[in-house]
Amino acid sequence: MAKARTNFICQNCGTVTSRWVGKCEGCGQWNTIVEEDPLGGIGGGPGKTPKKGRPVALTTLSGETEDAPRITTGISEFDRALGGGFVRGSAVLIGGDPGIGKSTVLMQAAAALSRNGHRIIYVSGEEAVAQVRLRAQRLGAADTDVLLAAETNVEDILATVSEGKRPDLFIVDSIQTLWSDVVDSAPGTVTQVRTGVQAMIRFAKQTGATVVLVGHVTKEGQIAGPRVVEHMVDAVLYFEGDRGHHYRILRTVKNRFGPTDEIGVFEMSDKGLREVTNPSELFLGERNAKSPGAAVFAGMEGTRPVLVEVQALVAPTSLGTPRRAVVGWDSARLSMILAVLEAHCGVRLGQHDVYLNVAGGYRIAEPAADLAVASALVSSLAGLALPTDCVYFGEISLSGAIRPVAHTAQRLKESEKLGFSQAVLPSASPDLPKGSGMVWSEMESLPDLVARIAG
Ligand code: TYD
Ligand code: MG
Repeated sequence: MAKARTNFICQNCGTVTSRWVGKCEGCGQWNTIVEEDPLGGIGGGPGKTPKKGRPVALTTLSGETEDAPRITTGISEFDRALGGGFVRGSAVLIGGDPGIGKSTVLMQAAAALSRNGHRIIYVSGEEAVAQVRLRAQRLGAADTDVLLAAETNVEDILATVSEGKRPDLFIVDSIQTLWSDVVDSAPGTVTQVRTGVQAMIRFAKQTGATVVLVGHVTKEGQIAGPRVVEHMVDAVLYFEGDRGHHYRILRTVKNRFGPTDEIGVFEMSDKGLREVTNPSELFLGERNAKSPGAAVFAGMEGTRPVLVEVQALVAPTSLGTPRRAVVGWDSARLSMILAVLEAHCGVRLGQHDVYLNVAGGYRIAEPAADLAVASALVSSLAGLALPTDCVYFGEISLSGAIRPVAHTAQRLKESEKLGFSQAVLPSASPDLPKGSGMVWSEMESLPDLVARIAG
């Protein structure tokens, strides 16, 4: 038999190299390469006889797969992020920074499912059963039939969850604590994590139980992050939030059974996570509307409008190279807006520091925020506050033209609902609502906007 060859695997992104290197070529992280056995003791071997499968015609399946059977938690923000609940037999990965609230939200979901009569097993590899029970008590979930187990060994976990009646859903918290007898590397390495997750997924597919895997996002790269198993699971959700703020966002980044642009919004309290059904009210809550540099953006998250305040501070610089700092938005996009303002509107910012912040620690991904950002920048530079009852949305192109964006009617409807009465939006916007209580100004180009704000 040939000598077993080992591979060098990046613990952050899973890139494989044939020799050890200090910096991973895949993700650019330092000191993340670890030597591992690539087969990890699995994978048949030469003696295995192949098993014949039987392909089935696509048409014969139509009846069974029309609608994936789901189990819902009744926590609507959670179900929404999943695309309408957990799909039976699927594997869901929930990633996030340590301490962000993954175990909390899952315990609440488990309790809700259990109250609906589902059999739920919560396998914790990080905390002892007593600790998990303490948390459950704090969350008001201790009176439910959720079954707890503290295991880290993959084979033991599978033996535990297969005991008795099949669970409807089981939670493995977290994948980084998993270790399998068949693999020779330390817990938390890519090979261990992948082998463990693979075994859980196989069990889920075979039994029809849903498996929820928790993965910590790791910065140091000493343990494998959730990214190395993203491709194996059916849905990937990230739990995000700012430590300084109370709310958390459950964001879908992959979903084989539903849309990927949905978010669920929660607020962390002393009794666990509370649903936030109207996020706009939360993000606009801390608003100090009268100061220059603040513009309200009417955004969309999936099917739902979300209003947030964009804040800009433009101040003369004392440095040779002016500072550009962005929180909650893409810094490349800010550079682009600044360049367009300079090139087409004669707004000189070369001697100014520019700071941009999205209120409440929220993160905007839409290019439709361009118009709100430009308005906030111009307002701050001119020292003139924008009207407090006005919202902004529209995409800015490199030529300075303002381009229409989708969901105009929904954005306007939400703004009106929250007490706004004006909107600045792109000209030629499609589906402008008739009979709306809002007044809107259609902008064709960025110079028009600058003239409107700075007079
Ligand atoms: P946790 O769910 O343990 O995080 P993760 O599993 O993602 O590592 O959440 C830990 C944080 O949540 C901790 O800082 C305390 C806070 N928390 C509350 O504020 N209220 C609560 O009711 C609970 C259970 C936790
Ligand atoms: Mg936890």
